[in-house]
Amino acid sequence: MSLSRLTVENLRNIRHVDLTLNPGVNLVWGENGSGKTSLLEAIYFLGSSRTFRGVRIDPVINRDATAATVFGVVNAAEGRRRIGVQRGRAGTKDIKINGEVVRKASELAQALPVLVLGPETVDLLLGAPGGRRRFLNWGLFHVEHGFLQDWETAVRCLKQRNSLLRAKGSEQELAVWSSRLVKASEALDRYRAAYFGVFSGLFADACSNLSRLTAVDCIYHRGWDAGRSLADVLASQEEGDRKRGFTLSGFQKADFEVRVAGQNAVGVCSRGELKVLAWALVLSQGLMSRKRQQQTLVYLVDDLCAELDLASRKRVCDEIIKSGGQVVATGIDLKQLVESWVGIDTKVFHVEHGRFSETESSI
Ligand SMILES: Nc1ncnc2c1ncn2[C@@H]1O[C@H](COP(=O)(O)OP(=O)(O)OP(=O)(O)O)[C@@H](O)[C@H]1O
Ligand SMILES: [Mg+2]
Repeated sequence: MSLSRLTVENLRNIRHVDLTLNPGVNLVWGENGSGKTSLLEAIYFLGSSRTFRGVRIDPVINRDATAATVFGVVNAAEGRRRIGVQRGRAGTKDIKINGEVVRKASELAQALPVLVLGPETVDLLLGAPGGRRRFLNWGLFHVEHGFLQDWETAVRCLKQRNSLLRAKGSEQELAVWSSRLVKASEALDRYRAAYFGVFSGLFADACSNLSRLTAVDCIYHRGWDAGRSLADVLASQEEGDRKRGFTLSGFQKADFEVRVAGQNAVGVCSRGELKVLAWALVLSQGLMSRKRQQQTLVYLVDDLCAELDLASRKRVCDEIIKSGGQVVATGIDLKQLVESWVGIDTKVFHVEHGRFSETESSI
């Protein structure tokens, strides 16, 4: 799968750009503030209708425009797909695939799966558990067909139980929704545990290829006490849940942790090491999707050279190439960017004030 054509209108400082991309590696270089991350953001927008910078779409729309629009042509084994996404300041959202209106952003994610490797990827390790759960969900959504439906069921059960807790619902009513929540949480836990069974092996391999760190483990926590059933936990926490007005344990509290020699990586690793570990998580996620779905992805690699020495960069690039995906990588310095991908056919674009031009890759 690859994105062959990309048209962006009024997204951040990009007023209009029309690019033909290489199905392999594309390099984008330019000064600070020229529009490199904005181009990656545009591709992410095409695959999700969202941004990876914050949650609000308003700042993404060019300040002199009322809507941001991105079109793309995706070549996949199933054929060619034309995708269009437009979001307006007034809250409008229009998504089309091959001319047909699409209501669910999940259909976009299926048509154009993208993964971001950037300076903020390290937040996967440093940030709150919600980011790690979204990461896990992305993986499961892409490899397990039934996951999305089971996820939606679990979210519905949790909302119902929480509103009953707040409304001081009867014992019987609460028992019904507790038991539904248990069933739904256990179903998600089975998916996640099975996913982790394979993912942790890929992650260990990626870490040994990417870094000199040894004894790296990735450990999954299901969201309630190990060794106890969730039904038991919910029963014993019921009084507290009623006081809090929400459910303390369950699928919504799942998390995972990266450990190095038995210690949480965040407490022991250097900044550069954490970056490599976080990137290894994302790359393993891509490999997982390829292994299970036979599907390749688009990797959006932002600021490749920041915080990574040449040897680390080359190892990262080798790992990305191994995954067989399409790459759009950005950097400030053309030389540093190009030398990371030695021996690989690349297409190079220079960006200045939101305007892109194809340039020679010779340095
Ligand atoms: N809504 C907007 N409308 C117009 N310009 C915007 C908007 N949002 C951000 N910008 C500007 O777009 C420019 C490009 O930002 P971008 O983050 O893409 O730069 P970059 O090339 O990735 O820079 P860096 O090397 O510093 O990461 C910046 O000057 C930024 O201030
Ligand atoms: Mg940037």
